[in-house]
Amino acid sequence: MTTSCRVCKGPVREFLDLGRQPLSDAFPVPGRTEEEFFFQLAVGRCEECTMVQLLEEVPRERMFREDYPYHSSGSSVMRAHFEETARRLLATELSGDDPFVVEIGCNDGVMLATVSEAGVRHLGVDPSGGVGEVARDKGVRVRTAFFEESTALDIAAGEGPADVVYAANTICHIPYLESVFRGLDALLKPTGVFVFEDPYLGDIVRRTSYDQIYDEHFYLFTARSVRAMARGFGYELVDVERLPVHGGEVRYTIARRGARTPSPAVAELLAEEERTRLADLDTLRGFASAVRRNRDDLLALLRRLRDEGRRVVAYGATAKSATVANYCGIGPELVSFVCDTTPAKQGRLTPGSHIPVRGPEAFRDPYPDYALLFAWNHAEEIMAKEEGFRAAGGRWILYVPDVRLV
Ligand code: SAM
Ligand code: TMP
Ligand code: ZN
Repeated sequence: MTTSCRVCKGPVREFLDLGRQPLSDAFPVPGRTEEEFFFQLAVGRCEECTMVQLLEEVPRERMFREDYPYHSSGSSVMRAHFEETARRLLATELSGDDPFVVEIGCNDGVMLATVSEAGVRHLGVDPSGGVGEVARDKGVRVRTAFFEESTALDIAAGEGPADVVYAANTICHIPYLESVFRGLDALLKPTGVFVFEDPYLGDIVRRTSYDQIYDEHFYLFTARSVRAMARGFGYELVDVERLPVHGGEVRYTIARRGARTPSPAVAELLAEEERTRLADLDTLRGFASAVRRNRDDLLALLRRLRDEGRRVVAYGATAKSATVANYCGIGPELVSFVCDTTPAKQGRLTPGSHIPVRGPEAFRDPYPDYALLFAWNHAEEIMAKEEGFRAAGGRWILYVPDVRLV
């Protein structure tokens, strides 16, 4: 299948098809699975600007709704990460006279709560009403809307220009980036910066973490594709920073062209991508082969454990795991339930694969023989919290970067 690049309109060549997939964050009520929405999850690379992107776009209102269940503050590691992010912004870009920061996709206020406590002018923009309410309870100002050109114009008119527009795990969700950049034209001060962090294609390929590909992750960025995108819209990539969170991300800083001198880190990451041929179609096809091997290995292990009569449950009903469960064909016959701390997911079924979701207490009652760690990006935090599981003889099943027991 070929489509046109959502950024530069060049041809996009498919390199991986992960099959029919449900909305990754829509957990059906038992007995009401006939209402589920499915789409074809295939990924391609633009032959002009190298942007890696999905071939089919899921309507945004289906994904980001009043009851969007993902709450960023559910992980202590992520809470610490965003507090540190806020402190750094406050000490640098937001240290001038009456600074103003806009966050796209503020979710439950995990980052802006610290900015609000510091008394700094801020506005979160997020279309998912439920998480926005939680943010407001923390003293964060939130506008329930999709960020796009019209929203940005409105904010600029009402509150003046912004020193920083920040986003985490959100810009890769937005196919219509042209509208976002036109919004930045109106909203950012001449010397302001657009800072965003998202899963990094370099880490995804290196670790075969194909579960980073799902409906919400429309783009998988690299320094090269982000630089091309920024230039296409009249901006410049001026800094990059690798982050360990969510299995490997990059934080990109973008400024108006000519406003700032790019840091050496930009050239270094571009050189590394060139050396590893990250954007080459051959590399991406090699990644697709590794994905198929990973699926075969995981299925073989789960089937063996089932045939041996072992009790296997999963840990973390992550959005990422929708891709794994539906691509591999993992259902309740292989994994009896998934435990998750998110109240809105409990008592529901996993999207498409229909594995029951229970609270974390079900994990210990009694411990299973094996636990498939769907939330592998929170491995350290979860394994520390659940050390009793291994002490009782349980083993974790991991599949990133390869299938193994620990
Ligand atoms: N920033 C948080 C974090 O990193 O944990 C939340 C990330 S969450 C995966 C993505 C958030 O982006 C959701 O809360 C969703 O409602 C929001 N979102 C999606 N499209 C958006 C848009 N066009 N403008 C603003 N927010 C958007
Ligand atoms: P994420 O990988 O997108 O951050 O989603 C993590 C999911 O895992 C989310 O549904 C919450 C759940 N979770 C737990 O159940 N227990 C935990 O200790 C952590 C950190 C996450
Ligand atoms: Zn392109």
